[in-house]
Amino acid sequence: MKYKSQKVAYWFFALCMLLLVLQLTYGFIMGFARIGMDGLHEFIPFNTARAVHTNLLVVWLLAGFMGAAYYIIPEEAQRELVSVKLAYVQLISLAVVGVIAVVGYHFNHWEGRKFLEIPRELDYLVVVNVLLFLGLILATLFTGKRRTTTALVLTMGLLFAALLYLPGMIWFDSQVTDSFFRWWVVHLWVEGVWELIMGGILAYLLIKLTGVDREVIEKWLYVIVGLTFLSGILGTGHHYYYIGVNKIWLIVGGIFSALEPLAFLAMALFAMYMYRKGEKSHPNKIALFWTIGSSIVSFIGAGLLGFAHTLPQTNIYTHGTLVTAMHGHYAFWGAYAMIVLAIISYAIPNMTGRKRYNNSAGHLAFWLSNIGMLGMTVAFGVAGVAQVYLERKMKLDFMDVQNEISIHFVVLILCATMFTSGILMYIVEFLKYGKPTDEALEA
Ligand code: HEM
Ligand code: HEM
Ligand SMILES: [Fe+2]
Repeated sequence: MKYKSQKVAYWFFALCMLLLVLQLTYGFIMGFARIGMDGLHEFIPFNTARAVHTNLLVVWLLAGFMGAAYYIIPEEAQRELVSVKLAYVQLISLAVVGVIAVVGYHFNHWEGRKFLEIPRELDYLVVVNVLLFLGLILATLFTGKRRTTTALVLTMGLLFAALLYLPGMIWFDSQVTDSFFRWWVVHLWVEGVWELIMGGILAYLLIKLTGVDREVIEKWLYVIVGLTFLSGILGTGHHYYYIGVNKIWLIVGGIFSALEPLAFLAMALFAMYMYRKGEKSHPNKIALFWTIGSSIVSFIGAGLLGFAHTLPQTNIYTHGTLVTAMHGHYAFWGAYAMIVLAIISYAIPNMTGRKRYNNSAGHLAFWLSNIGMLGMTVAFGVAGVAQVYLERKMKLDFMDVQNEISIHFVVLILCATMFTSGILMYIVEFLKYGKPTDEALEA
């Protein structure tokens, strides 16, 4: 069954594509600045580009999650969205907040709290926007004909993500307290409730693409939710090692964060097992590639590369270096960017009634972007290890070290070019599908 109101999702996905291109532009600005080509410095210094790059990432992923919810919830609840008009109001206000924030970064020096740089006044607009979104999703789910585990996990993830945003809005005079609560947003999002969102979308896609019974798939989902909470909540301690809080966090953070890869391993095994068990008859292979790919790459990027610097004995050396950037790129790409690209690849043919998924452009987009991102991860990793050795072991000056390692950013830019070619091909495909139609959604 399809529902006409699922069309709203298309416009959220279109916003995603736009913001993704902008995000990459700022990535290149930083990459070039790192090799001395910093012509835009007066207007877009490195710290501005960095804030815009990471904040755009968060906004396009959130837009993708919202689009996914508007697409998935009607189908799971078996009813139209309660209000399509309000969903468009929510879309437009999200875009407006995004534009104000991005423009603002270029004219103001807002707080340097990585990932949460937007001023607290704008936070209130974000809250109103998210309340509207949650209201629409919850009302649709709870007045619908069914409440599936998949829909509940997805909605729970979105609801908790909104609640966890609040501690990040409180003002603290102490650096330590401020940092302590910043992680409730940044860590408990990506290593907690966003995993539920990912798990929900993954379960939905596996049900549709493999044809395995919902009961089997949803049993796994419980295991994933359990492992996520068991490890991720106390795992927050891996950000509390040497920031001025109680030493107990060295042990608690070390142990529980070391368990976090298990949730990602479970997701990878889950996806591969369901694929093998399934009928393999669904024609949309591109969506299947992105779905299985996401589960595997998130295990490598978040699970393995996260583990690589999560014990206090290693983190004391690697903290805040390019080793972190290595892990940050591959984890965000595998877990969240790829799952958003997966649901878009699945939903667009259904919404437009066109079936372009057998052509090679879509496959090329997948491989170019994935190989490009793997290369970028290696470049960041090599630069990061060299940085740790020179700066933290040999005690060379910070800026001298940055000069020493700039060659790795040439490699980064080459790989990023390959990555971006893949993304641009993906977007061209997206555009070629055209707009959604009522006929396709009535079929
Ligand atoms: C999809 C899930 C994940 C994403 C998107 C992600 C992303 C990130 C990002 C962006 C940072 C930098 C944050 C900042 O400095 O503000 C970071 C830091 C960190 N992550 Fe992850 N991560 C994920 C999962 C994991 C897992 C499972 C582990 C452990 C096994 C882990 C271990 C760490 C550690 C130890 C740091 C601190 C690095 C430092 O001290 O500089 N991450 N992560
Ligand atoms: C054209 C492609 C890209 C380029 C050239 C690029 C480059 C960069 C650079 C140079 C930094 C700053 C590292 C530093 O502190 O020196 C950065 C930060 C970051 N980028 Fe990208 N990036 C690109 C795409 C992406 C994508 C697709 C994602 C997510 C899926 C992403 C996620 C991040 C994150 C999370 C950080 C912050 C890492 C940290 O806190 O250590 N980037 N990027
Ligand atoms: Fe963390």
